[in-house]
Amino acid sequence: MQSFGGKTVVITGASSGIGAVLAKELVQRGARVGLLARRQDRLRQLAQELEQGAPAGTEQPVAAWREADVLDGGALNAALDGLEQELGPIDIVVANAGYGMSESPRRHRPGEAIRLYDTNLFGMLRLIDWALPRFVERRSGHIVGVASVASYAGLPYNASYCGSKAAMRVHLQALRVTLAGQGVAVTTICPGFVKSELTDTVEYPMPFFWSTERAARKIADGIAKRRREVVFPWQMKVLVVMLTRLMPLSWFEAIVRRGNPKGRVKSSS
Ligand SMILES: NC(=O)c1ccc[n+]([C@@H]2O[C@H](COP(=O)([O-])OP(=O)(O)OC[C@H]3O[C@@H](n4cnc5c(N)ncnc54)[C@H](OP(=O)(O)O)[C@@H]3O)[C@@H](O)[C@H]2O)c1
Repeated sequence: MQSFGGKTVVITGASSGIGAVLAKELVQRGARVGLLARRQDRLRQLAQELEQGAPAGTEQPVAAWREADVLDGGALNAALDGLEQELGPIDIVVANAGYGMSESPRRHRPGEAIRLYDTNLFGMLRLIDWALPRFVERRSGHIVGVASVASYAGLPYNASYCGSKAAMRVHLQALRVTLAGQGVAVTTICPGFVKSELTDTVEYPMPFFWSTERAARKIADGIAKRRREVVFPWQMKVLVVMLTRLMPLSWFEAIVRRGNPKGRVKSSS
């Protein structure tokens, strides 16, 4: 197990799913965590759990939280400043806040796609706005973005989700090569299907489904090793490469249309 002893990690979207379980995993590995999201009750409860369950000898406090909507840059900056005051310098930021939705042309609602990009993509950029100058100045730090395997291709009824995740992935890659040699690492996480509130709303088949705990362990290992990209499960990685890089586009589009003919999702967040 890779250690995070002495590291302070801020996670957006830490009130549920991957963000919450990653926070638990990192604390078990010796990190102190700053938790950000909109649902205060969830964050308060998680922070208490983390304090109670922290391994002996971990520096106190182990966890701090702030309510913040990643759509609001001013509030996000204030929350990050507050976490830094409480926990000390932040070493790693994880842009994890995000959501998906089914987009049917028949039920098109103006503004919905823009809001999704604003959360998934610009929410990450607002976090980077805060972190990057500090990390470059210190010549250390680590930016992590949770994109998706859906970032590799356009899938039916998921234009905004795939588009926002693709933009995250390419942005992070460009940032990584720009920052090479400056002490600041950039890691892109591309999960397949993972148990969370997001996938609880999905009705279509989700192959190679992972538990949140397994995903959090994989992500923590990738961050600790400062990997460029962490794509999982491996079967999904192979599928993505086969479908998007080796297959004619017309074949690929015929296959994905058949996989999700109606964009079945119970509700959107
Ligand atoms: N689960 C999967 O299969 C899967 C696969 C690939 C990628 N991902 C990505 O993993 C990330 C985490 O999702 P999840 O699966 O763990 O789903 P989740 O349980 O729904 O978690 C989403 C988190 O994002 C937060 N969030 C949403 N909008 C926000 C906003 N405007 N400001 C601040 N926080 C916001 C939510 O907190 P509040 O509602 O409390 O604000 C929540 O903590 C997402 O970026 C998602 O796209 C998930």
